[in-house]
Amino acid sequence: MTTRIRLAGGFLLGLVLAGGAFAHGDVQPQPVNTDGLDPLGTEWKEENPYRGNAKAVAIGDSGFNQNCARCHGLQMISGGLAPDLRYLPTGKEGDEYFVERMKHGAVVNGVTKMPAFDGVLSQEAMWAIRTYIEAKHEE
Ligand code: HEC
Repeated sequence: MTTRIRLAGGFLLGLVLAGGAFAHGDVQPQPVNTDGLDPLGTEWKEENPYRGNAKAVAIGDSGFNQNCARCHGLQMISGGLAPDLRYLPTGKEGDEYFVERMKHGAVVNGVTKMPAFDGVLSQEAMWAIRTYIEAKHEE
């Protein structure tokens, strides 16, 4: 029963998004081209190394729309499926929170509400997305 409800939800979501950039409700992570950003290596940074970098904002914009918008909303304007990330704290506090989510995703009562992105997106791509999120911050 639960499965059927979840499937129906996914189907409806697919329908809603099919009109936009997310035809077929595709849930595969999309690679993000981070050419032009300084490489970061494999060790996780604690703080956003790209903060305020305009190139990172542009790359993060496209990375976000491909990988996050189907839940968090186009342009980060959430339709209520997932938190509205425009209100994520800025600076190091927000960075730490962001990294935790990227590493572990969100599992609530055994149901994966958000997939983990560690090993799926590069660290460069994730910090570019964080740079974009912070650039659109609202109080
Ligand atoms: C399948 C849907 C889905 C996708 C895709 C997704 N998220 Fe999420 N995300 C969620 C949900 C649902 C939550 C809230 C989980 C909870 O209840 O704790 C969340 C929480 C978060 C939070 C914590 C926000 C807060 O205020 O607590 C951050 C940061 C975040 N997501 C970033 C991202 C980024 C960046 C991407 C893309 C790389 C992404 N998410 C992709 C569903 C998703």
